[in-house]
Amino acid sequence: MIKNIHPIFNQLISREKRQHFLNQQSSVFWFTGLSGSGKSTIAQGVEKALFNNGFFAQVIDGDNIRSGLCNNLSFSIEDREENIRRIAEVAKLYLDSGIITLCSFISPTRKIRHLAKKIIGSDDFYEIFVNTPLDLCEQRDVKGLYKKARAGEIKGFTGIDSPYEPPVDPGLTLYTQKQSVEESVFIATQYITEQVSLESKAKKQQQ
Ligand code: ADX
Repeated sequence: MIKNIHPIFNQLISREKRQHFLNQQSSVFWFTGLSGSGKSTIAQGVEKALFNNGFFAQVIDGDNIRSGLCNNLSFSIEDREENIRRIAEVAKLYLDSGIITLCSFISPTRKIRHLAKKIIGSDDFYEIFVNTPLDLCEQRDVKGLYKKARAGEIKGFTGIDSPYEPPVDPGLTLYTQKQSVEESVFIATQYITEQVSLESKAKKQQQ
């Protein structure tokens, strides 16, 4: 299918060198959950916390990507798959640049998240489930989208008339019903730091 294309990956500065430069292990942290579950708010809080602790992290978020890179895609299952495929490819570029990448997308099905994991590589992919029940997301309805979906003004809305399959074995689950945004940010930052800190990596290797 791909003809006359000659990628030059081997001439780039290596990921190892970039990681060393940034003093961190780059990885992708994939936040999944319903619309309004708090994914992006938490991911942004984590980005800030990591930055304040000397790490270089970047959030890639659904509403932003869908207003640019993926603005030609709908919310059909096929287009959501294409959305996630493009994002995973972008995340992989970030990963190779040594960046800690925080992806915040509904990514509603196991198949879609599996695709992301496959593109990024299972060693560098960590799934974080923002486990906020549908009734709470709907009650909050920060963007007013659940109301529109219930009124039939939006078709194929996740959790209403389009499926959301919770992760089977996520690396971390955040129970936002029981904990504040600050607590979720703190827990996620701790978990991520454990994976990206070269010091914790060295300690693990010594053990
Ligand atoms: S995904 O399913 O393809 O992963 P993505 O995370 O990019 O979705 O975008 C989700 C955001 O798009 C939601 O937070 C919401 O603001 C908006 N949105 C608009 N229409 C829909 C819809 N039908 N289902 C879910 N989210 C929608």
